[in-house]
Amino acid sequence: MSGAQPTIAQKSPYRMEVEAGKSYWWCACGKSGSQPFCDGSHRGSGFTPIEFKATEDGTIPFCGCKMSNGKPRCDGTHRSL
Ligand code: FES
Ligand code: FES
Repeated sequence: MSGAQPTIAQKSPYRMEVEAGKSYWWCACGKSGSQPFCDGSHRGSGFTPIEFKATEDGTIPFCGCKMSNGKPRCDGTHRSL
């Protein structure tokens, strides 16, 4: 990851509906135009998306600041930014 800092997409989570059995690719670089998910904009940045596999239907708070220690979920780290 070459020590590069991600771009902060927003300093709050994106609450997204997920479906059991589906995979979602969370944007780690912060540059995606379809937050919180990867749209390929990370190419060349050293970042790669992180897979989230839904085990049940529900709403997940995906990290928007990209600094969570529990990626891809928001863990509250955005409050200290
Ligand atoms: Fe950010 Fe792919 S666009 S990880
Ligand atoms: Fe990143 Fe909450 S939005 S930790």
